[in-house]
Amino acid sequence: MLINKNILLGVCGSIASYKSAALTRLLVKAGANVRIVMTRDACNFISPLTLSTLSKNPVFSEYFDPKSGTWNNHVELGLWADILIIAPATANTLAKFAKGLCDNLLSAVYLSAKCPVYFAPAMDLDMWKHPATQNNINTLVSYGNLMIKPAYGELASGLIGEGRMAEPEEITEFIIAKYGEGLPLKGKKALVTAGPTHEAIDPVRFIGNHSSGKMGYALAEELSSLGAEVTLVSGPTNIELSDKRINRIDVTSAEEMLQACLSKFNNSDIAILSAAVADYRPKEIASLKIKKDSPDYSLDLIKTPDILATLGQKKKLGQILIGFALETNNEVANAIKKLEKKNLDFIVLNSMNDEGGAFKNDNNKITIIDRYKKQVNFELKPKKEVAADICKKILDLI
Ligand code: C5P
Repeated sequence: MLINKNILLGVCGSIASYKSAALTRLLVKAGANVRIVMTRDACNFISPLTLSTLSKNPVFSEYFDPKSGTWNNHVELGLWADILIIAPATANTLAKFAKGLCDNLLSAVYLSAKCPVYFAPAMDLDMWKHPATQNNINTLVSYGNLMIKPAYGELASGLIGEGRMAEPEEITEFIIAKYGEGLPLKGKKALVTAGPTHEAIDPVRFIGNHSSGKMGYALAEELSSLGAEVTLVSGPTNIELSDKRINRIDVTSAEEMLQACLSKFNNSDIAILSAAVADYRPKEIASLKIKKDSPDYSLDLIKTPDILATLGQKKKLGQILIGFALETNNEVANAIKKLEKKNLDFIVLNSMNDEGGAFKNDNNKITIIDRYKKQVNFELKPKKEVAADICKKILDLI
């Protein structure tokens, strides 16, 4: 969910500052680019070296770094951030933010940032309860900033009450959930097929093809980053998903892929079938390894189920169904025929004539053709960007 998001973490001076290390690690693990601004007091509680190592970025604390002679530009930092998190947020820093003071780098960054701001207060019980603190928090909430509430428990002073900073896991979950609410495919379910299918000949051999699955995996990741709940039905590939929220169902044959798709399609809002499904399979699967005794050998083949066409027949109003076409001749005419025959909303045409595109490669060059035969040609680009182009078309349809 936070893949490639720019997160600026502001760390204030509190005993809870040690939790910023775990928080940094969780944000990095969630895929975010993390940069950190610490107040001077925060550096007394936790070493900038720890946070810089965990975030894999230099940590900023002062406006001016005398060692390198560089100016840490608060406006640039504020504008870089997609999300600003202040954790721990002390009573002092919250008061400065509420009043618009900017006597350190962090408070200047806060005033410059245009992105959503989250703050996780940490302080002693009575400081937390004080009307001055509560008023400051209400002011910040009235600015649209989001508070991650402190927890009840034992405090560093020995007192028991409210004021403990929320745990790093809770902060991360809160941000992912809030961030997800604004995503355009939130609440939508998507089904994607990817990779080849392998059709068994005997226990050791199969009919297959060169599909790597890269396009389908990129589509699954892109749909998920837009907020969709994604099921990826994958033929045999060597690819790992970086987004662990995607529900991956591994299959081998076309028949298994069909069954997996049928079990999910009814509840799907979007289905993109990018798998290179074998068109034929051996009529019989030999139970023992076939011997090479005779000089020639022939196999009886029968058609595999056309998964896309099957889903096209079942498609209900409101469901979006997308297919791929890999053509070598009469490309557009053949793709339009497929689009109509399989009842698609649009078809993505890859040409085998485009060098560096389609099978096995990291890049692809596509043409999108919709039901009205409108064609849009795209440049050769990385499959991740191709996936984004396809998803933009889906968003237009929705
Ligand atoms: O008819 P053709 O195989 O060229 O169509 C390609 C499209 O149909 C792709 O989207 C592919 O995933 C899908 N397909 C399928 N089941 C098959 C064959 C193709 O879902 N048996």
